Amino acid sequence: MIKAAVVGLGWWGKTIVRQLASSRTIKLVRTVDVDPNAAEWARERKLAVSTCYADALTDPTVDAVILCTPHAQHCDQVLQAVAAGKHIFCEKPLTLTQRDAVTCVEACQRAGLVLGIGHERRFEPPILELRRLFDSGELGTPLQIEANFSQDKFLSLPADNWRLSAENAPAGPMTATGIHLIDLAVSILGPPRRAVAHVGQLGSQLSNGDTLGALVGFANGSNALISAMLATPFVGRFALYCNRGWVEVVDKAHPEASEGWTLTKCLRGSKAERREYPPAAAVLANLDAFGDAVAGRMPYPVTPAELVGTIAALEAIVTSARNGGTVESVPA
Ligand SMILES: NC(=O)c1ccc[n+]([C@@H]2O[C@H](COP(=O)([O-])OP(=O)(O)OC[C@H]3O[C@@H](n4cnc5c(N)ncnc54)[C@H](O)[C@@H]3O)[C@@H](O)[C@H]2O)c1
Repeated sequence: MIKAAVVGLGWWGKTIVRQLASSRTIKLVRTVDVDPNAAEWARERKLAVSTCYADALTDPTVDAVILCTPHAQHCDQVLQAVAAGKHIFCEKPLTLTQRDAVTCVEACQRAGLVLGIGHERRFEPPILELRRLFDSGELGTPLQIEANFSQDKFLSLPADNWRLSAENAPAGPMTATGIHLIDLAVSILGPPRRAVAHVGQLGSQLSNGDTLGALVGFANGSNALISAMLATPFVGRFALYCNRGWVEVVDKAHPEASEGWTLTKCLRGSKAERREYPPAAAVLANLDAFGDAVAGRMPYPVTPAELVGTIAALEAIVTSARNGGTVESVPA
């Protein structure tokens, strides 16, 4: 077992602490949160806790940090962990600019440290099946992805919450949910090259926007149409269209309390086939993949190029939403 510290004990940090109780690769040895109330939550569960990140970085028993902090802090916290020789699992998005993503990825590579990322949707069984069908060549050449990840969990957030700030959460729903869809698209379609996006505040008090539509173009000529809203009830759908067939994965409920998925596959000349999937612990599977990589058992499945590609698309979407027009992504 590798030993890890969870940094940030808000919504997601607490989720990760609970998941780690069942991990086969990671032992939680320490938690950190700047908020004394969050630290109290840790003390009640008899977890070692402090309010200072440096305590985790200087703890020789800590092999890895798991960053569950606001987005604008990720880049600095990753680089501090590298300087301290700790492996890093960073919640999404890795950074907010492509330049920072390259800096983080290269720093980890130079130091021989594993960089994991909170894109657990890759580990959902129907997405793994979609990926298997694509990799087998059965679906043919990829043409286009259509994907939607929308929810209404943030409607009651106070106006000063970091999730409503342009600094931490530019382009409204993009860093919350849209980024998961971009990661999946990059993992299938490869490097992104351009994006055009519109963000509006149409149906809520979420001042950085509640409605995102984005079209991302990839180097291979394919597209991903990304829809993400924060003012409508949960909906999750990911569809890959290829020249011999298509696959669509639909979530039955929000992934936080998953009720499983339906996968529909249609090959040319055949009727569409449906298959039901029960809920599965995708967050834990991602953390264990990170633990396996730190222990040297297998490479972490999200590659450095994919980490950078996802943030390149994020930055292009944010820039397009702010300034209008199509924004080209410069290859890293
Ligand atoms: N993978 C997923 O599906 C998923 C889901 C939800 C959130 N997230 C990600 O998790 C991260 C945290 O989101 P959240 O919803 O839990 O936010 P949150 O506001 O609920 O929690 C953030 C916590 O970090 C603490 N914090 C802030 N600065 C800190 C610092 N310098 N050192 C230590 N603690 C610090 C805050 O006090 C707070 O408790 C974000 O990156 C978010 O995108 C991922």
